[in-house]
Amino acid sequence: MKQKKFMLATDLDGTLVGNEEGLADLLAYYDGAPYEVALVYVTGRHLDSAKSLIKEVSLPIPDLLITDVGTAIYHHDGEDSDWKQKMNEHWLPDRIVEIATDFPELKRQQLPNDYRVSYTVDSNPSAAGKFKKRLEQEGIPHTFIFSSNRDIDVLPPSSGKGRALKYVIERYAAPDVKLLIAGDSGNDIDMLSLGHPAVIVGNAQPELLDMVDHPNLFRAKTHCAAGIHEAWVHFYDKKDKHA
Ligand code: GLC
Ligand code: MG
Repeated sequence: MKQKKFMLATDLDGTLVGNEEGLADLLAYYDGAPYEVALVYVTGRHLDSAKSLIKEVSLPIPDLLITDVGTAIYHHDGEDSDWKQKMNEHWLPDRIVEIATDFPELKRQQLPNDYRVSYTVDSNPSAAGKFKKRLEQEGIPHTFIFSSNRDIDVLPPSSGKGRALKYVIERYAAPDVKLLIAGDSGNDIDMLSLGHPAVIVGNAQPELLDMVDHPNLFRAKTHCAAGIHEAWVHFYDKKDKHA
């Protein structure tokens, strides 16, 4: 991975996945590129769920897989243990679960581990704000992520897709890597805000449309993988466009 001069770090659902034709075009474009692109998937899904999706949609096997909203990082030989250790610092999942019982609107997501504590609030999204406030009042160290007006992820304090991706870039990527970060919903905001070239795909959730601009933030018109392709051409293929 350290040899690859380019990197695509992308969310899966609603970003890389969701537009079959766009995905086929993007993968063909990368196949024909005169350079290799390192692939990093940065998903809210847990490991088995991410693997099923990769299989189901026949996605290329990534160089690295960041799962559970940035709380776990997997390379080909297993989980990154330094990151795992960092996630355990000041992490109090049992306290979070206990506090959440005061909010009956929150439906706990069934997950295989307690890397994060996640809920859905289909019926009453305003409960998310109240829960967040309560965790703050109780002084529980955490990162709070609300996506698609539905999913609440309570994460260890020094996690999230942005922090996990920053760690991956520093530890695993080529020193001068040219990268593109892609996302479509709330859990992508922190990685899209790192300042690197980033794309909000055309089908993004409203919370991303409200995101503060930065000079490297591109808002694609097209959906999912087609939006990634559009942004890649914008950032890295300008010469071809004017040839
Ligand atoms: C994905 C995950 C879910 C998470 C959501 C938002 O849908 O499966 O657990 O809450 O992303 O991060
Ligand atoms: Mg998504």
